[in-house]
Amino acid sequence: MSSVSFVQRPRRLRRTPTIRRLAREIRLSPEDLILPLFIVPGEKIRRPVSSMPGVAQLSIDMAVSVAREAWDLGLCGIILFGIPKIKDSLGSDAVDPQGIVQQAIRAIKQAVPELWVIADTCLCEYTDHAHCGVLQGEEVDNDATLKILGQAAVSYAEAGVDMVAPSGMMDGMVAAIRQALDQAGHAQVPILSYAVKYASAYYGPFRDAAENTPSFGDRRSYQMDPANRREALREAALDVEQGADWLMVKPGLAYMDILRALRDRFHVPLAVYNVSGEYAMVKAAAAQGWIDEQRVVMETLTGFKRAGADLILTYHALDAARWMAQA
Ligand code: PBG
Ligand code: ZN
Repeated sequence: MSSVSFVQRPRRLRRTPTIRRLAREIRLSPEDLILPLFIVPGEKIRRPVSSMPGVAQLSIDMAVSVAREAWDLGLCGIILFGIPKIKDSLGSDAVDPQGIVQQAIRAIKQAVPELWVIADTCLCEYTDHAHCGVLQGEEVDNDATLKILGQAAVSYAEAGVDMVAPSGMMDGMVAAIRQALDQAGHAQVPILSYAVKYASAYYGPFRDAAENTPSFGDRRSYQMDPANRREALREAALDVEQGADWLMVKPGLAYMDILRALRDRFHVPLAVYNVSGEYAMVKAAAAQGWIDEQRVVMETLTGFKRAGADLILTYHALDAARWMAQA
């Protein structure tokens, strides 16, 4: 006879792999994941990003084959970042019908029509100063930027994009893009808003991939202070009012509380961006043999979903989908 007496024994539900599977609350699936791609001009280019092992800048032809692979692995969507040949003070390539992203959208939609193609909608990859908007002196001119973002969104829609994702943290960007899309006859194109985007050191490696390090200053006059939570709720509420169909929190790991807070308060779908620095840390530790990459990645993705994310933008998407297929 045991000397203690109790009826609740949680370990009963952990005894075998089968009961653990039955008792599992969160299930990851490839369709939870969105793969980011960096598109460069040229052909047959696959230029590795040194701070993001496994990630490369791709020419359009190469991006098309990765898109096909993503679809075959069960992913439903990708998000495109364009790196144009020529950058200027206004980010003109972002609104050019022959711009790098517009061409990529057309090619990918033609090759893999059902794959959901999202276009990151911001000026920092297109401006020569690499700020997320046009400048007035050394300041980002919010309202002048809105006009260009609206034009960019319309031009992506005309190229056949499935969803636009404004990421520049300009005030009123969702309203401006919604209005521009509606007026141009694209009322059916949804907006995934990077509603809550912090000024984060975790974007470091992305700036190698997208070649968008600001030529002076930083992004703190438009991206949020990592210390602020109330402000995140305010940003999210404003974007929902302005017509955001989908909200995003970025980065992920250091902001799980924000994800949960948004999940509990807003009834639109929610995405999280598992950003470049989070990816690079896992890759670096795994390369040293210090962590088990597969287990760490799956645990992290599970954590995002548990915290409330419906969708996870992650550079691990292809690997994770492969691991899920094997499991
Ligand atoms: C730019 C943009 C950034 C990322 C996505 N869009 C970088 C930044 O704001 O500096 C970061 C993504 C990542 O780090 O993986 N609007
Ligand atoms: Zn930007």
